[in-house]
Amino acid sequence: MAEIFPQEEYPALLVGLSTADDAAVWEISKERALIFTVDFFTPIVDDPYDYGAIAAANALSDVYAMGGEPFLALNVAAFPAALPEEMIVEILRGGAEKVKEAGAVIAGGHTIDDDEPKFGLAVLGFVSPQQLRTKAGAQPGDLVLLTKPLGTGIITTAFKAHEAKPEHLATAVDWMKKLNRDALLALRKAPCHAVTDVTGFGLLGHAWEVAEKSGVALTLRFEALPFHPGALQYAEDLLFPAMAGKNLADYAPHVSFSSKLEYEEQLLVACPETSGGLLFTLPPKYAEAFLARYAEMGHRAWVIGEVSAGEPTVSVV
Ligand code: CO
Ligand code: CO
Ligand code: CO
Repeated sequence: MAEIFPQEEYPALLVGLSTADDAAVWEISKERALIFTVDFFTPIVDDPYDYGAIAAANALSDVYAMGGEPFLALNVAAFPAALPEEMIVEILRGGAEKVKEAGAVIAGGHTIDDDEPKFGLAVLGFVSPQQLRTKAGAQPGDLVLLTKPLGTGIITTAFKAHEAKPEHLATAVDWMKKLNRDALLALRKAPCHAVTDVTGFGLLGHAWEVAEKSGVALTLRFEALPFHPGALQYAEDLLFPAMAGKNLADYAPHVSFSSKLEYEEQLLVACPETSGGLLFTLPPKYAEAFLARYAEMGHRAWVIGEVSAGEPTVSVV
């Protein structure tokens, strides 16, 4: 599609199809750019309120991943005719309260009838062009940081198969509902080189996008990766969603794994996440400052690897 909309014909389009990032970015003035993104999916948890809140946090995340803050959102929804009214109300309430928490407002939306429920948001955000962050720009010597543990994909899949403990699902749900706003605010003060968020392509896929678009090699340390309680156990039981294997196969030409890593550990790194954390690279001296600032805000982040010069690739060791 990029050839129908050549970048040079749209000088205000700072980020569009040709650079494919977390969201589109349109420059309004030298001080202000508009971020525009849409995201929706089928239910990943049974609780309607949690589903709405997770879908909203996930959609809002792409605005944070571009360095901006959301201000306006529209509901995008499909509900079966037979779905009880009170469930629809709860899904929309979960989404609305999350948008409010983000400091943004829902101003409308569109709903259709469909056999399978779908919910999400189209979101507008603002960013100053100077604070715009993309997947490009990671530099050799940077550290790679992550702000949420991994494992939401395997835990929700295991739960659907009645194989996951309710407390494991509850922890994953709490994290999926968490906004990436504080992570972005803590990052604002750092000369951050590349930012994205971890969602459907898994840590591996999103790390590859950073490596490819930045023209660098990323090394991720498996032992440094944070996982939600239960994720490693369900991985051993091979309770992965089908997308984990597809991601692993898709990115295989660009990634390498240390021989000590088992197949299920490789799958876990490739497993899709929902409403995952921000993944970004920072020079080491700023990484310490970020971690301290983020801790002061009551959160924790993890240093999971480093960036080096060389052919774009992701090595998991
Ligand atoms: Co994204
Ligand atoms: Co997205
Ligand atoms: Co309409």
